[in-house]
Amino acid sequence: MDWIDLGNPVPFDELQSYSPKVWSTGEVVRLVPPDKIVTPAFHDVAFNRRSRRHFSPISNDELSTLLWLTARTQDAETNSSKAITLRRTPVPSAGALHPVHIIIKGDSKTDWWLYDRDNHELRSLVETGDIFDPLLDQINQVVPRGAASVILLVAEPGKTMAKYKNACSLVWRDAGVLLAHFGLAAESIRLNFCALGITGEPWTSLLDDQNRLVGVGVALVGA
Ligand SMILES: Cc1cc2nc3c(=O)[nH]c(=O)nc-3n(C[C@H](O)[C@H](O)[C@H](O)COP(=O)(O)O)c2cc1C
Repeated sequence: MDWIDLGNPVPFDELQSYSPKVWSTGEVVRLVPPDKIVTPAFHDVAFNRRSRRHFSPISNDELSTLLWLTARTQDAETNSSKAITLRRTPVPSAGALHPVHIIIKGDSKTDWWLYDRDNHELRSLVETGDIFDPLLDQINQVVPRGAASVILLVAEPGKTMAKYKNACSLVWRDAGVLLAHFGLAAESIRLNFCALGITGEPWTSLLDDQNRLVGVGVALVGA
């Protein structure tokens, strides 16, 4: 069996130092927090959830609600000496570290946007150039994208590695948890969502010349 044993995570006695990725971002789009979210009962959401592969464009308000229900920061505390922030968000994360960044590409906008979960904002990623063009081609080969927005999960494993030995499986499980939560949140607000098996590699890691980022998942969402 060709199985890669990622080992059992063990927390270090003390947080290790860690050099966070500092993103180069440009335009900021403030997402309006949803005023009132009306959703079906959880059991209806759970039993009706299906992967859906037909996509119309979603509005900024729909995207705002999806991200609000999934990844926005509810509470945060920072250990300034170690540059580690622990966060509470709707989705769980090993050690409250949330090492998986969410990057969005809308249906028509050319930019890729980093979701700033602390401020519920989108920040355009500068200097991405055309590095993601091959990823868009690959997505279309897996599931025709139509007017879907792309959700790209970008891990910063160093965050989790600062707290745990053998951290890789935690990062992968964080990505899985996030995808599952996105799927349920999308269903609850009647958006069509499909996780894809591709990871976003080998292109995502080009976003950082210090090798701190890695693609850990892709999904499509649309109306
Ligand atoms: C990790 C993961 C990867 C997936 N990759 C793909 C994919 O590449 N293409 C696709 O059409 N569906 C993909 N799916 C969706 C599954 O095919 C789908 O969940 C499965 O057929 C069950 O259908 P349901 O989600 O409607 O219950 C993926 C789902 C998960 C959780």
